[in-house]
Amino acid sequence: MHLSDKPYDKPIDKLAERIKSCDWCRLSGGRPVAGEGNPRAQIMFIGEAPGRQEELAGRPFIGAAGRLLNQLLHDIGLERDEVYITNVIKCRPPENRDPLPEEIEACRPWLDEQIRLVRPRLIVLLGKHALGRFLPGLKISNVHGRPQQAEVPGLGSIVFFPVYHPASALYNKGMRTPLEEDFRKIPDLLRSIVAGRWPS
Ligand code: URA
Repeated sequence: MHLSDKPYDKPIDKLAERIKSCDWCRLSGGRPVAGEGNPRAQIMFIGEAPGRQEELAGRPFIGAAGRLLNQLLHDIGLERDEVYITNVIKCRPPENRDPLPEEIEACRPWLDEQIRLVRPRLIVLLGKHALGRFLPGLKISNVHGRPQQAEVPGLGSIVFFPVYHPASALYNKGMRTPLEEDFRKIPDLLRSIVAGRWPS
């Protein structure tokens, strides 16, 4: 084994260890789920919060919504280990309720640091909470499938791509087609960003 292959040698793994002992909000005491994937990914996917299965396994998006996410990725020629997957908040809210503004705020430095370390070219925002975290005031129904460039304090200029949350598409069948169509735009969008053709 090479020295740098040791677990927790990578900055992203060290960060995950710190996230696991976070006590910055009322959700602490649970089992935080930091995120997983390629620490050099060109695309980062950001969901809302871990659910029960994610909390038990310590991995994001492994339940029903995760299986749909895997399928959507596979359909556009991507696998989970090529991208980085995380959430706006790292702990499961009780009864899977929506994250509170103060919980999102408490988790802000963790997600910001993950973005700083991975430095993705494109961030796919899964659902309204991820959208609201970076682009407050926009409605997911208006902006899904439309790339948005924004200056984020402390992080610089980022290209975001909002889409419906996979869980929403599971209980609202009408969202499945737009979600699939939006995912199909991702490879071309990434190519354009990398080639410097977007934003034009
Ligand atoms: N939903 C999310 O937003 N994140 C997960 O990790 C799982 C389900």
